[in-house]
Formats: sequence, structure tokens, C-alpha cells
Amino acid sequence: MTPQQLFSMNGKNALITGGGTGIGKAIAHAFSDAGARIAIVGRREAMLTETLEEREGTAIVADLMADDAPQSIYAACEAADIIPDVIVNAAGLNPRKHADDVTADVWQQTIHLNLSVPFFLSQIFVPHMKQKQWGRIINIASLQSNRAFTNGIAYGASKGGISQLTRAMAEAWSKDGIMANAIAPGFFPTELTAAVFGDEEVSKHHASMTCIGRNGELSDLTGPALFLASDACGFVTGQIVNVDGGYTAK
Ligand SMILES: NC(=O)c1ccc[n+]([C@@H]2O[C@H](COP(=O)([O-])OP(=O)(O)OC[C@H]3O[C@@H](n4cnc5c(N)ncnc54)[C@H](OP(=O)(O)O)[C@@H]3O)[C@@H](O)[C@H]2O)c1
Repeated sequence: MTPQQLFSMNGKNALITGGGTGIGKAIAHAFSDAGARIAIVGRREAMLTETLEEREGTAIVADLMADDAPQSIYAACEAADIIPDVIVNAAGLNPRKHADDVTADVWQQTIHLNLSVPFFLSQIFVPHMKQKQWGRIINIASLQSNRAFTNGIAYGASKGGISQLTRAMAEAWSKDGIMANAIAPGFFPTELTAAVFGDEEVSKHHASMTCIGRNGELSDLTGPALFLASDACGFVTGQIVNVDGGYTAK
């Protein structure tokens, strides 16, 4: 394969949850630019429509918290003829609550969306990937997969879990050509991190914690995401790729 072929997504279908905003949107655009047809999931139709623009793909308006979300998203992908070869589990929430204030509801919602949904949504598409003997699952981990941050107990538990889920997915499915990896982003400006980037002191502090000396820009995710979705990643599985400017190296 030529380097161009290695990283091409021509002929590939990709499902991206949280594709209407932030990190999911950036990855959806990267995959579309590389030739993939994209199916993007979120609750706000307008954000999905904006992401799609003129691109080849479909917008799936769905609440991932619904019990039948994996089945209904599968049906929507089937209807659009975009059964994914690549799945990016980017939808997530961070309740930013102190341990003393986390209720059972907050805990369950966080674990459900950030950890259970990536598993059950991936699981429903695995038979298709097995049939093709080719698939890529990309989970989104976090600095909080390894570090404890203020008001991050539920979020951190879910992101610690997603790292181990990624390794367990790799163990379960890689023999069938399905590589499961995760991107662990540093701080990127999105709706989720509005509280961080809205406070100059806090965002400067996080920038200073990196080796590079700045926080992430969404375009920093293009290369790593394309790599994990590509043929170039054929012997890389169960790994957590820290895209954090060296935050975790210091
Ligand atoms: N930004 C960072 O610095 C950073 C760092 C580490 C990890 N992450 C992770 O990156 C991922 C993406 O976050 P982001 O930073 O890009 O924030 P974001 O823009 O707020 O993205 C979250 C996405 O999840 C979707 N979503 C939330 N609840 C949903 C539900 N019940 N059903 C369907 N979709 C739902 C949202 O769309 P709707 O509201 O329209 O449903 C939105 O598109 C998350 O897993 C987050 O934990 C982000």
C-alpha cells in the first residue's frame, strides 16, 4: 500500500457519536475529508445538519441514553446504507460535581453515556465488522482516565473505565480484524470545557502543564484520529493515545 492508500478512507463508513459538536465534529470532518461516508449522532438536529453541510452522510437525531439507542441507531444506519466500519464514541458528559454532591442519578447518567453506551453501541456493529474482518473502534478517554481532577469523580470513573474497556474490546475482537483504541485528549475548547476556557487563569494553568505550552486545537486531532481509523493501524490495538501536548509526559 502507498502512504496515501494507507490513510485513505475511500469506501469506508464511519459512525461518530457526538458528531454535531466539538471533538466528534472535528473527527467527522477529518474522516469525510479522507473519503468516508459519515453517520453522526446527537440530540440537536441543527448541530448535526451544520456538521454535515454538503458532505456525504446522514444525521441521526437520537438520545443515546434511551434503552433502545443501539438498536435504533443500527436501524438508522441500515436505512441510510451506512453500516459503519469505523465507530467513534465521542458523545459524553461531565457533570463537574464534587464527590459530596454526586447523586445516584448523576452517577448513573455519567457512567451510562460515557462508558456503557460506547460498549453496547460498538457491540451491535461488531458482527458486521467480523464479517468484513476489518473494523476500527475509537473511544474517547481523557486526562482523567489516569488523573484525579477537582469535581471529576463520576467523570473520572467513567474515563478510567473507558481505558480498560478499550483494552478489553481489543482482547475480545482484534483477532477478527477489529482494532480498538482510544484517544485521550488534553484540554480542547468545546462546549464541554466552557468552564475551563471561560476562565483565563485556569486555561493558562492547563496550557502550562503541557510540554508544548498550549492547550489543544481541534485540528490537532485530525492526524491521530485518521491513523486509528486507517489501515496504518493494523497492528495497533488496545492502546490509549494521549493527544495532550505532553501533559501526561510531565
Ligand atoms: N474537550 C476536551 O478538552 C475533552 C478532553 C478529554 C475528553 N473529552 C471527551 O471528548 C468527547 C467529546 O466531548 P467534547 O469536548 O467535544 O464536548 P461536546 O462538544 O460537548 O460534545 C459532547 C457531544 O455529546 C453529545 N451528547 C451528549 N449527550 C448525548 C445524548 N444523551 N445523546 C446523544 N448525544 C449526546 C452532544 O450532542 P447533543 O447535545 O446535541 O446531544 C455533543 O455533540 C467526550 O467524551 C469528552 O468526555 C473532551
